[in-house]
Amino acid sequence: MSNSVQATREEVTAEAPAGIGNLAVGFDLLGQALAAPCDRVTLKVREGSGIEITDVTGVVRELPVDPRRNAATAGVVRMLDDQGAKSGLDVAIHKGIAMGSGMGGSAASAVAGVLAADALFGLALSTSRLLEYALDGEEAATGARHADNVASALCGGVTLVTHRQAGISVQQLPVPPGIFSVLVHPHLVLETRASRAALPTDFPRDVVIRQSANLAGFVVACFNNDMALLRDCLRDVLIEPHRARLITGFDSVKAAALQEGALGCSVSGGGPSVFAWCDGEDGAQRAGKAMSKAFADAGIAADTFVSPASAPGARIAG
Ligand code: HSE
Repeated sequence: MSNSVQATREEVTAEAPAGIGNLAVGFDLLGQALAAPCDRVTLKVREGSGIEITDVTGVVRELPVDPRRNAATAGVVRMLDDQGAKSGLDVAIHKGIAMGSGMGGSAASAVAGVLAADALFGLALSTSRLLEYALDGEEAATGARHADNVASALCGGVTLVTHRQAGISVQQLPVPPGIFSVLVHPHLVLETRASRAALPTDFPRDVVIRQSANLAGFVVACFNNDMALLRDCLRDVLIEPHRARLITGFDSVKAAALQEGALGCSVSGGGPSVFAWCDGEDGAQRAGKAMSKAFADAGIAADTFVSPASAPGARIAG
């Protein structure tokens, strides 16, 4: 491609939200955006060439400085290579999302980076292309190209990743009105790489069949606004049994959420955060308090985030 792509603005900031990866029944496929917290990436044109990470602020200060290894910039590097864009860029990253939290922080940074670059150069790339570039960031951070968190961070709401002949695409699922999620983030760190390494590579056939039925039932329940089916299907029989033991207090946190009437409760992404889906905001607040208390009883402080299941995705912030 010729070196014809020029920046159309001096500076762009984009922000992308945290999320709940897997949503219990869609390992690497389902995701839900949270209303908060968010990561923010600012790209600023400067003289010369190359991408330089000049500032990292927020709840994380130590990030790789090599742009090809940083979640916020790995996809930007390839996007600009593909487009023949040669401008020098300074990159400022503000992390609102803790690392190793199971809240999709690497995906949020990756999405914010590629969305900012798309806007800065006026590219108007498709959702699928942005997703592919954001996956470079996810892979740089976690070693795997799972698109569940990236899809919800980019598109918002509840998303299902589908692998089509033309590549990855995102299906937005309707969310039954009044569904709120609560995510409780214990102050523990569990790196996604370690959490993935704890999983077996082979699964018993009956478990795969039950999880497939739960995923299918979950999707039908979302389309039909069927709360009873949702309650029956929002159960992870495939991944949760292997990850629960990595999270101190998980069993009592889950029991506390279900006791408060949650529709379902499981590990968020790779953990250690735990989420529940509830019918109504009050129910989510009550479940969050009970879950947080269960972590406290296990000696672990935690933060609680209540969000509608239909929270928006990434946006240009300035
Ligand atoms: N789907 C991924 C996993 C999300 O569960 O490993 C982690 O960010």
